[in-house]
Amino acid sequence: MINIVPTTPFEGQKPGTSGLRKKVPVFAQTHYAENFIQSIFDSLEGFAGQTLVVGGDGRYYNREVIQKVIKMAAANGFGKVMVGQGGILSTPAASNVIRKYKAFGGIILSASHNPGGPNEDFGIKYNIGNGGPAPEKITNAVYARSQVIDIYKISDVEDVDLDSIGTLDIAGMAVEVIDPVADYADLMESLFDFDAIRAMIAGGTRVVVDSMGAVTGPYAREILEKRLGAPEGSVRNATPLPDFGGHHPDPNLVHAKELYDDVMSPDGPDFGAASDGDGDRNMIVGKGMFVTPSDSLAIIAANATVAPGYAKGITGIARSMPTSGAADRVAEKMGIGMYETPTGWKFFGNLLDAGMATVCGEESFGTGSDHVREKDGLWAVLFWLNILAARKQGVAEIVKEHWAEYGRNYYSRHDYEEVDSDAANGLMQHLRDSLISLPGQSFYDLTIEAADDFAYRDPIDESISENQGIRILFEGGSRVVFRLSGTGTAGATLRVYVERYEPDADKHGIDTQEALADLIAAADHFGEIKARTGRDAPSVIT
Ligand code: G1P
Ligand code: ZN
Repeated sequence: MINIVPTTPFEGQKPGTSGLRKKVPVFAQTHYAENFIQSIFDSLEGFAGQTLVVGGDGRYYNREVIQKVIKMAAANGFGKVMVGQGGILSTPAASNVIRKYKAFGGIILSASHNPGGPNEDFGIKYNIGNGGPAPEKITNAVYARSQVIDIYKISDVEDVDLDSIGTLDIAGMAVEVIDPVADYADLMESLFDFDAIRAMIAGGTRVVVDSMGAVTGPYAREILEKRLGAPEGSVRNATPLPDFGGHHPDPNLVHAKELYDDVMSPDGPDFGAASDGDGDRNMIVGKGMFVTPSDSLAIIAANATVAPGYAKGITGIARSMPTSGAADRVAEKMGIGMYETPTGWKFFGNLLDAGMATVCGEESFGTGSDHVREKDGLWAVLFWLNILAARKQGVAEIVKEHWAEYGRNYYSRHDYEEVDSDAANGLMQHLRDSLISLPGQSFYDLTIEAADDFAYRDPIDESISENQGIRILFEGGSRVVFRLSGTGTAGATLRVYVERYEPDADKHGIDTQEALADLIAAADHFGEIKARTGRDAPSVIT
């Protein structure tokens, strides 16, 4: 039986950079999740009888919302739901399942790298048939619908057993509970030289992956420990837990510090990697060397042909605007396309679909390729292992050689979290108002060459996205970028991105914050950060 439930709109069901993210108590309000799910279905056409993929990162409230999605999919006329066992699917694995089984789309439940638990974050995101995040056309329609919604449809059936693999029928719709890991592990095995990596590990290279109590545990264990022969225990914090075991599953130098310190210690592992809540982010550390995500993209692109899946070469590279220009130099040298997009993976989808870009990345610890339509943490880890195995060098050597060849882009992001929203908006408005007068202004040795508010025209569908971040470009190629986060759930987060290009290899050994000190001071000067936010220092530096 289908229940048609009267409801009234909730304010603020506006998908951000990556779906709708709110605290669990917000999502747990009566009708709240249902309203948003129905708004998604109401914004789509032609899914009758088609397949919907559902899964999440296992965080608190995951199972409850999966039950709602399944019952609502049945009531709305989907033919089948494919759901990961235990409600688990990493974001890249979900993208792969959508593509592999030609599903109509998928609903991914995650708040990515944000903490999980009864009072922490939850999120719902819709991905389209190419496996990638819904474009703005759809997310805008979902928001519009959520503001006028008056009913939702849900089948009146028992909860589905999510823990046993197999197919069952609920209210005339098939529900297939699938192994969340197998398809993804097979895909990785098809892309990378597992024999070479296995031989490297057998030869004594010590590799560790920290899954931070989140979704990649089962994936990393299957791939690293089972298929690549790393000793048991190489995957740390490998069980996905509703509260991630108290971890803040954001793989960066602040939250994955334990792993970093271990790899840096004299008798620690040779290579360490961490991934985030839903498995799409990655952090790469080698002995004596942390690899910035921007450098990682450039190095993967420069070495792509060592991996069997990319042996034919790459067609182009795409990066988000705030990501450093390191990859641009690789693209230039290779004579391939380079695309600068707004922040958020959804902007890469069209370029990947059109075959214009093969690899893409963001400074926020995201790297990926056309194998799925999401960024992919374990993919990046395996790419690095493949490069290490092929080049028979360590991470530090590879990075230093890369800088020597292309120059080094010193890069850092300063985040000011949970800033008062009015103050943050005021700061951005102040910069926007100064755009015309900024060029020509100086701060000590730095002179502004240009300033703008980044706008992007998608080369395929010609859609335009405006207000994507204020760029202050200095003479000589250094820059500072200001933007407000679109994924936060409390107050505003100001992100300040700072970059300097240094071609001279003799100057590649400077501490990053030191190398950027004048630009950091200039950012405060022009952005009035301290005065407007009341903060003396950033909350997180990556
Ligand atoms: C952040 C990152 C962005 C990434 C997104 C989703 O968005 O900066 O690169 O695509 O998370 O993982 P933001 O909070 O800056 O809007
Ligand atoms: Zn994520």
